Amino acid sequence: MNIIITGASRGIGYETAKLLSAEHNVIAIARSSDKLEQLKKEGNSKNIFPIAFDFEKGNIKQNLIPEIISSLSQGRGTEGEVAIDVLINNAAALIKKPFEEITQADFEKVYRVNLFSIAELTQAIFPLMNHAGRDFKSRPTSHVLNIASMGGVQGSVKFPGLSAYSSSKGALITLTECLAEEFKDKQIAFNAIAFGAVQTEMLAEAFPGFKAPITAKEAAEFVAQFATTGQKYFNGKILQMALSTP
Ligand SMILES: NC(=O)c1ccc[n+]([C@@H]2O[C@H](COP(=O)([O-])OP(=O)(O)OC[C@H]3O[C@@H](n4cnc5c(N)ncnc54)[C@H](OP(=O)(O)O)[C@@H]3O)[C@@H](O)[C@H]2O)c1
Repeated sequence: MNIIITGASRGIGYETAKLLSAEHNVIAIARSSDKLEQLKKEGNSKNIFPIAFDFEKGNIKQNLIPEIISSLSQGRGTEGEVAIDVLINNAAALIKKPFEEITQADFEKVYRVNLFSIAELTQAIFPLMNHAGRDFKSRPTSHVLNIASMGGVQGSVKFPGLSAYSSSKGALITLTECLAEEFKDKQIAFNAIAFGAVQTEMLAEAFPGFKAPITAKEAAEFVAQFATTGQKYFNGKILQMALSTP
């Protein structure tokens, strides 16, 4: 399969990209090119195509998409049509500030990375996925997997200081459900995983000192499995993967 994963320079994205590279071509995107090079060394390097890109400031259509196409064309040894099977929208920004202190610029940054860029990347990747129509007997072959958060799930426990982050994840969950409905007759399934606590740098920033029951590697095992097989069984579903609160 040809798989794109964003936020692949550390945490869940890094471990997922490493696992997926054993069998698949992986386009690994994040800002930190040094850490992406490290990923290439630690994973199955011939299958990993690192791309340094900033979802807050970069131009997805003009710069990122051509790089994705050229990376995969090289991987296949040929120029020509490139097909994406799986898109994992995993990169995210977290700003933790009391609501009275958080600025409009903070909200815009969090929403740009966690929502607007995901909508834009998904829209740009759509033509490169198998989006042919399907009848009731066939099952989707392509998968867009959005990584959300328990904080964005309606009715879940909420925590102070996470208004921008958690509300952006709530919007991402709704976007996932909307796209699943809009494209339910196509070969693309749209699902989301809403994580509870996973031991990463982001968790340490959001909940200093909290010890998560799940490691990034364990979370990645589930993401890798679900990203490559979940489209056959699920569409428009939000999987709540949480053993603790937070
Ligand atoms: N860990 C948890 O407990 C938890 C809970 C709920 C949901 N989640 C979700 O799980 C996903 C992975 O989280 P994580 O804990 O692994 O986070 P993390 O360790 O902080 O990693 C975040 C990744 O996103 C990338 N990123 C951030 N801003 C970016 C930007 N502007 N452009 C491009 N890439 C950017 C980072 O790379 P660079 O800095 O190199 O760009 C990094 O690779 C996120 O969607 C997060 O919201 C995590």
